[in-house]
Amino acid sequence: MEATNGTPQSKAGDWRSYDRVLLPPIEDLHQLEVYREHGGYGQLRDVLDDPDIAPGDVTTAVKESGLRGRGGAGFSTGMKWSFMPEPDDRPRYLACNADESEPGTFKDRQLMEYNPHLMFEGILLAGYAMSIDVCYVYVRGEYADWIVHMEEQLEKLYDAGLVGENILGSDFSMEIVLHKGAGAYICGEETSLLESLEGKRGYPRYKPPFPAQKGLWGCPTTINNVETLACVPLVLEKGPEWFANTGAEQHPGPVLYGISGHVNRPGVYEYPTGMLISDLIEEVCGGMRDGKEFKALVPGGSSTPPLRADQCEGTTMDSESLREAGSMMGTAGMLVLDEDTDMVSYLRRVTHFYQHESCGQCTPCREGTGWLERIVTRIDEGEGQMRDLDLLFDLCDQMEGRTICAFADAAAWPVRYTIQRFREEFEAKVKPSIHPVSADVSSGADATAPATEG
Ligand SMILES: Cc1cc2nc3c(=O)[nH]c(=O)nc-3n(C[C@H](O)[C@H](O)[C@H](O)COP(=O)(O)O)c2cc1C
Ligand code: SF4
Repeated sequence: MEATNGTPQSKAGDWRSYDRVLLPPIEDLHQLEVYREHGGYGQLRDVLDDPDIAPGDVTTAVKESGLRGRGGAGFSTGMKWSFMPEPDDRPRYLACNADESEPGTFKDRQLMEYNPHLMFEGILLAGYAMSIDVCYVYVRGEYADWIVHMEEQLEKLYDAGLVGENILGSDFSMEIVLHKGAGAYICGEETSLLESLEGKRGYPRYKPPFPAQKGLWGCPTTINNVETLACVPLVLEKGPEWFANTGAEQHPGPVLYGISGHVNRPGVYEYPTGMLISDLIEEVCGGMRDGKEFKALVPGGSSTPPLRADQCEGTTMDSESLREAGSMMGTAGMLVLDEDTDMVSYLRRVTHFYQHESCGQCTPCREGTGWLERIVTRIDEGEGQMRDLDLLFDLCDQMEGRTICAFADAAAWPVRYTIQRFREEFEAKVKPSIHPVSADVSSGADATAPATEG
């Protein structure tokens, strides 16, 4: 994954005059009345009123827009919807993934707080496109205040005939249910989320069968992230072409960059995809805090490989550019680290999180995450040895691609790439090598003892 990136240009066009559409600056937009005053639920009405718009047309528009999932994997949304089988006598489900538990990711929260109706309208349009009967919104339990607020708004939607039986007098009926998570990161993984919704322990499922074939209670199910679904009304309102021409060609659209760490103005910022990392840090976030040097970036949540500052030069925030640079877009939750950051200590914190959150089903993950944490901890405490670095790489090899879900990869990548890219910091913390010493009869030292370091 190591590569120097040669893309010097922003792909975000004239981003300085970009008008926000996911989080527009409208007061009280979280209230149904205000959302409707500004044209909200207009796309739903248009779709339901027009007999010429078939459900498949909505899917086609989403496909043409190039929308890719904002939950981390970046899969084509229209393509995912088209995996749903033709309707039969089974109920059909949509799960809106609002679990948002990846460290460094906090953008769905902004949508649920400031523009929840965009998400609800997206849910209803997706529901129409895939003939969904019920959508479960699986919300991170810690978002208690926004859950209460969304419950109130949902009640208003039922009262207004926008959710439930014969929506807006049409043939289309759909229920929406809010479901609170209980603090497990793994329940954000889509199949684990389904298990949890079914009332079981949040254990990820083997795939295949994929959820479109056999999802909730064995019925066809699609899982989409909050921000992904919030993009759907925008695709219909502004047109798939507008969406496809906003930001990076291969990964288009507006996106919420959740920027934290050592910058002057951390926060959630909406811009097109394809922003230069340097523009986001220097202009959007007002530069590095206390004038420190930029050292590293974790571009899309804790599981994405950290990049050194030099790897970020000319790199833009879209999947292609980040892949060339040696990382991933993930959730666009960007953690910016300055020159004072101790990368060993950073990694220790990350490995602790993954050790704590592994569901324990697969041996490589259950045992591997524990060993990753223990070994990184002992290096951080000055008790490690040089050979521990090889041991960590070996552990990553044993974990990646060998488990039921992608959690093990998410736990291994930060280890592999933090060591690979900041190796000198790890070497500086391991115990000094024990070199062979010359025979010293008085102390009984063995001159032939091998060095213990690799
Ligand atoms: C361990 C793990 C945790 C995840 N947590 C979330 C999450 O909190 N929110 C989310 O939208 N996707 C999460 N995902 C990704 C989901 O499995 C799934 O890909 C996503 O919800 C699909 O939506 P999208 O296509 O709209 O991105 C997680 C994946 C893994 C492996
Ligand atoms: S990879 Fe880890 S989190 Fe995923 S199913 Fe296996 S043990 Fe659970």
